[in-house]
Parts: sequence; C-alpha cells; structure tokens
Amino acid sequence: MDTNVETCLNDWSDLTQEYKVLEMLSREYCTKLEEVSELQAKCLQGIEHQRYRMNAISKVLRQLHTSETSQCLDKDINRRIDQLHEMEQVLPKPNGTYLKIILGNVNVSILNKNDKFKYKDEYEKFKLVLSMIGFALSVVNLFTNVRTLELSFMFLLVWYYCTLTIRESILKVNGSRIKGWWRFHHFLSTVVSGVLLVWPNTDCWYTFRGQFMWFNVYISVVQYLQFRYQHGVLYRLKALGERHNMDITIEGFHSWMWRGLSFLLPFLFLGYLFQLFNAYTLYKLTFHPEATWHVPVLCFTFLVLFLGNTITTVMVIPQKLRERVRDSLPGVFSSKISQRKEAANKKNSESKNEKIN
Ligand code: COA
Repeated sequence: MDTNVETCLNDWSDLTQEYKVLEMLSREYCTKLEEVSELQAKCLQGIEHQRYRMNAISKVLRQLHTSETSQCLDKDINRRIDQLHEMEQVLPKPNGTYLKIILGNVNVSILNKNDKFKYKDEYEKFKLVLSMIGFALSVVNLFTNVRTLELSFMFLLVWYYCTLTIRESILKVNGSRIKGWWRFHHFLSTVVSGVLLVWPNTDCWYTFRGQFMWFNVYISVVQYLQFRYQHGVLYRLKALGERHNMDITIEGFHSWMWRGLSFLLPFLFLGYLFQLFNAYTLYKLTFHPEATWHVPVLCFTFLVLFLGNTITTVMVIPQKLRERVRDSLPGVFSSKISQRKEAANKKNSESKNEKIN
C-alpha cells in the first residue's frame, strides 16, 4: 500500500479514538444541561412559592398592631425579598411583551454576573458616544442651515432612543431596577424625535429650531455628567462586592454617591426647566399662522417630560436617604449595596470553608 494512504489511515484511526472521548464529553455536557434546566425550573418554582407565602404573611402582618416582633418579621421579609432577587440574577427570565414583539421568543437572560456588568457598562458607554455625536451635530446645525443635516440629526435621535428602549428592556430582564418612568421617558423621546423629523420646514419650525439645538447641546453636557455618575456607581458597586471590607466601604460609597448626586442634581433640574421653556415656546407657536399639528403635540410631550422627570428625580432623594439609613443598620439588608455586601460575605465564607476542608 502507498505509504501516504497508510499514514492517512493511521491518522484517521487516531482521530476516531479522540472522537470517542469527545462524544463522551458531549453526552456528559447534554446530561448536565438537562440537569441545569431541571434545577432552574425547581429554583424558579421555589422562588414563586416563597413570594406567594410571604405575601400571605405580609397581609396578616399589616392587620396586626405594630409590635417589636412584627417589626423584626417585617425586616426579615424585606431581607428575604432581596435574597430572592439576588437568586433570580442567575436564573433565566422570560422576555417582556415589548421584547417579545421586537425580538421574538429568543432568550436574553445573562446568567453570569461579570457579563451582566459588561453589558451595563457597554450600555452606559453607548449612551456617552451617541450623546457626544449628538453634541457635535447640534453645534454644526446651530451654525449652518442645511436641511439634510438637520434631518439626519432627527433620524439619529429616533434610532438612538429606539435602541435605548430595547437595551433597557434587556437590562430589566436581567434584574436592573431602572424605574418605569426612565424607560417610558425614552419611548416618549422616540415619539418627540419622530414628530420633529416629519415637522415641515415652515417659518414656525425655524422659530423653534435654534432653541431646540441649544437644548440638545445642553442635554449632551448633562448626559456626560450623568455618565460619570452612573459609571462611578457601577464600578464602586462592583468593587464593593469583590473587595469586601477593603478599600471601599458602604460609608465611603454613600459619601461619594451624595457628592456625585448633589453635583448632578442642579444640572438635571436646569435641564427640566429648559424642557418647560420648550413647552412654553411651543405653546406660543400654536398661534403662529403656519402652525401644524406637530406644534401642540410637541408642546404636550415636552410638558409631560418636564413633569415626569421632575417628579421622579425629586422622589429619588428620599429613597436614597432611606437606603443610607438602612445600610447603616446592622443586620438589615435592603438596598443594592447590602445585596452586594451579602453576596461578598457569602463568597468569603465559602472560600474560607473550602480552605478549611
Ligand atoms: N436612565 C437609565 N437608567 C437609569 C436612569 C436613567 N435616567 N436612572 C437610573 N437608572 C438605573 C441605574 O443605573 C440603576 O440600574 P441597576 O439597577 O442596573 O444598577 C437603576 O436604574 C436604579 O437606579 P437608582 O438607584 O434609582 O438611581 P441612581 O442613583 O442610579 O440615579 C439619578 C439617580 C437621579 C442620578 C438618575 O436617575 C438620573 O440621572 N436621572 C436623570 C435622567 C434625566 O433626567 N435625563 C434627562 C435629562 S434632561
């Protein structure tokens, strides 16, 4: 036989042996996958059961007079709610209706904490890059008057806000506590950008154009400040979970967060006043002879944005104060910092146990 053919046959026989090992591995992998699916279903069922019984206990508790025991039980229930939320982080979740419509029934759950962090980090960076592009385009539009450029900017805004709504829905599926208003805010911003895109270039539009471009310049600056705050929170929370009791403490985190918030809040409220001013200008423009339906619709949406943003941001302050008080109480776990601390504690004690064993 030709030596080349003989070498081929020997190689093939070697490869077949290796394939048998691979086949075993693949079979083991499939069995483990099935086991994982069964465990996931059992955990999800267990969580649902816990929530159902806790609701029943809470209902009875509300009807009783407050005593020390009932207060302790209430704290324990709050702690269990957070523990269940933490458990859900590594379990698959079904998509909401919006994602089902857009993506179909594909699973978007991220089961690894590091990947979740990366996804959120990427989302914040995406917003930053797009707001910088928005800044540049609004400045160019302020000093030039090219209709195509103007329309490209509006189109970019429609695409940007639409993408944000999808990314935020994915974040929500993966356990983000983003408030409903901020998600609705981005849906509404998509509508605003769409209406601006189809607003005909009448005299009425040109009266509002300059103010709108300045508004975008300002919003881009605020979005940069927001990015610095959110990015800081994200990295500090990650470090808090990983480097338990070392260079970052809860107190350190809170004082940093308050400094960040008190710097950011005046810029945010100034932005909301700008939105109110937009609504006012548009209201005056409804009496313009060339005013079309776009003017009252935009006036109304800017007013809704002003009200929703102001109310939601004002409500964040007492919420943060409550979290700060809770985090300073020993044995009470209620905010996301506490969850991370608890996860870190668990990880630490697990690694200690492993070392002892
Ligand atoms: N857009 C997207 N996500 C937001 C958000 C926003 N405006 N505000 C908060 N979140 C997210 C947080 O990142 C966090 O996510 P996580 O659960 O995945 O970690 C979650 O929602 C809960 O955040 P919360 O603790 O309530 O607030 P915060 O400390 O992260 O931020 C503010 C508080 C007030 C600084 C923030 O909500 C904000 O910047 N709001 C202003 C937005 C705005 O007005 N934009 C228009 C400018 S005119």
